Amino acid sequence: MDKIAILDFGGQYAHLIANRIRRLGVYSEIYDSTTPASALRFCKGIILSGGPNSVYEKGAPTCDPDIFKLNIPVLGICYGHQLLVHLLGGKVKSSGTKEYGHAQISISRNVGVLKFMGDEQTVWMSHGDEVTLLPPGMEIIGKTEDCSSAAIADEHRRFFGVQFHIEVTHTPNGTKMLENFIEVCGAEKEWNLKEYIEQLKMNIQKEVRNRKVFMLVSGGVDSSVAFALLQKTLGVNNVYGLFVDTGLMRENEAKEVRDSMEKAGFKNLHIEDASKDFFAALKGVVLPEKKRIIIGDTFLEVQKRVLKKMKLNPKDWMLGQGTIYPDTIESGGTKHAAKIKTHHNRVPQIEEMIKKGLIIEPLKEFYKDEVRIVGEKIGLEKSLIWRHPFPGPGLGVRVLCAKKAELPSTWKVTEKKINEHLKAKKDGLKAHLLPVQSVGVQGDSRSYKNPVVVCGEAPWDRLNAVSTRITNQFSAVNRVVFSVSPDEISKIEFVGPSFMTPERVKLLQRADAIVKEFCVKKGLYNDVWQFPVILIPVRINSRAGETVVLRPVCSEEAMTANFYEMDFALLRKLGDLLMAVKGVSAVLYDITHKPPGTIEWE
Ligand code: XMP
Repeated sequence: MDKIAILDFGGQYAHLIANRIRRLGVYSEIYDSTTPASALRFCKGIILSGGPNSVYEKGAPTCDPDIFKLNIPVLGICYGHQLLVHLLGGKVKSSGTKEYGHAQISISRNVGVLKFMGDEQTVWMSHGDEVTLLPPGMEIIGKTEDCSSAAIADEHRRFFGVQFHIEVTHTPNGTKMLENFIEVCGAEKEWNLKEYIEQLKMNIQKEVRNRKVFMLVSGGVDSSVAFALLQKTLGVNNVYGLFVDTGLMRENEAKEVRDSMEKAGFKNLHIEDASKDFFAALKGVVLPEKKRIIIGDTFLEVQKRVLKKMKLNPKDWMLGQGTIYPDTIESGGTKHAAKIKTHHNRVPQIEEMIKKGLIIEPLKEFYKDEVRIVGEKIGLEKSLIWRHPFPGPGLGVRVLCAKKAELPSTWKVTEKKINEHLKAKKDGLKAHLLPVQSVGVQGDSRSYKNPVVVCGEAPWDRLNAVSTRITNQFSAVNRVVFSVSPDEISKIEFVGPSFMTPERVKLLQRADAIVKEFCVKKGLYNDVWQFPVILIPVRINSRAGETVVLRPVCSEEAMTANFYEMDFALLRKLGDLLMAVKGVSAVLYDITHKPPGTIEWE
C-alpha cells in the first residue's frame, strides 16, 4: 500500500498533515523524528513537520540525514523546511522578529508544491527563524516581503521546503500544494472511510474484549459519535452513557441534551446533577490550568460515584471518552509537543488510567471535520452533528477568574507604543491594555498574556491588519478585541477578586443564550464554526457589572481559526441586547486569529 511518512518534530500540526492526506484519499503514517532512514525506505514520500524549536539550538530534534539518500521525495514544512536546509549544508538564523499570520508569496517558478499556483498565493506563516543560505542544488521558487526563501526546491532530487504551513486552512490553496507533493511522490489513492470505520470497530472490539463501556457524554458531536460507534459495535446493552451536569453548561443545556439524545434514539443514558460538586471544587481557584485539572478530576469522581450507586463492578467497565486528536496534542501529548492546555479528558488521573488500559477513546486520532463525516456515515442526525463545538469544562473555562488586576510592569510604555504605532499607520483607533490575562498559542507554544482593546471605527480588513500587526510586534499582547460601543473608552477597572460562582456563571449563561438565539434568528449560526461568549472581570467607563467578550470563529478542525467578520449593523444590535442585561458593563469583540489567540479564552 502506498504511504507518505510524516516525521513529527513536536509542532501542533503533524497529525493535521495526516488528516489532510487522508482527506485526499492517501495513506500516511506519523513517525518519531528519530526513526532510522532504513525504516522509511518503502514510503512514497517523506514530510518533515513543523515544531517549536530552532534547528541551531543544542538538543533540537533532528532526523536521520540518510533519508536524503533514499531517492524518495522530501518536503519540509516550517521547522522541517529549516531542518532540511540545515542538514543539506545551508544556514538558518533567527530573523529577529517573529512572523505569525497571513503573507503573500510571489512565485518565481511553478514547480513541485507550487505547480499551478500562478504568480502569487496567500499563505500562513508562524516562525521566528529563517533560511539565510541555501544548500547546494536548491533554488528559491517563492518569497514574501519578510522571508526571502519562503519556498525552495531541488527538482532533480525532488526535495522541497516551505516556510509557511500548507496544512492549515489559513493557506487557502494549501491542500492543493500538498496534493502536488503527493503527485510528485506518485502515491496511489488507496485510503477510504468505509474501510477505516470497519477498522475502528475491530479496534474497539479488540480493546474492550469482554468488558463493557461507561461512556461520558456531553451532547456534543465527539462524544455522541463515539457513543453511537461503541453501541453499534458492542451492542446497546454493553455501553452505558453518563451525562454529567456540571452546572457549567449553557442555559437549559441539560434538558436540551437529554431531549436531543432521546430524539436521536440513544438508549441507556443516565443524567447526574453534579453542579454542587463542581462549584465546591472550584471555590477560590483562579489559574486556568488548575481549574482544568479540578474539572477533569471531578468528572472522574462523579463517574465513580454513579458506578457505585448503580452497583456496577468497576472491574467490568471501561471508561469511554469522546477525545479527539486536538485534545491530545494541545495537552502536550506527543514527545516534543508543548503543552497549550490540559483538556478535561487528559488530566493526569486519566493519563494513568490510559496506561492501565482502562479507557477507550475510539476517535482519538481524528479531527472534528472527520468526526462529523463518520457521524454522518453511521447515520446520526444532522442537527446533532452540526452543533457548534462546546468544550467539556464548559463555562468553567469561559468565566475568567482573577484575584487582582494582572498587567505587566511595563504596560504603560507598551500601551503608549501601541498608540504611537496606530497613529503612525493612520488606523484611526485608540488602544488600551486590559487588566486580565488569557491563554494563547504562538509559535506552537502556550502564551498567557494581556489582550488589547481598540476603539474607534474601522472596516474589517483594517481591523484584521491591526490585530496581526499588534500581536506580531508587541510581545506583551496575544489578543486584540474591539469595543462594540462607539463611545471612547475613558476608564478601565478590574472587578475583583473574581471567582467561579453560580452568579457569574448564570450571568454568562444569559449572555450566551442571547447570542445563540440571535445567531439562529439572523441566520448566522451556520456561518460560524464556534461562538464562545466569555465573561471577564473588567468594568468599562464606570458602568456597573463585568465585560462580555464575543469570540465567533470560522474553522474546520479547531487547530487554526479565523475570527468571524459579523455585519456591523447586526453586531451593534447584538451589543444592545447584551448591554440590556443587568450585570453587563461592556461588550467586546475578539479580532484575533488562532494562532496567536486560542479559540477559547481562559
Ligand atoms: P482552543 O481554545 O485550544 O480550542 O483553540 C480548540 C477547540 O477545543 C475545544 N476545547 C475543548 N474541548 N475539552 C473539550 O472537549 C476541553 O478541555 C477543551 N478545551 C478546549 C474548544 O472549545 C475548541 O473547539
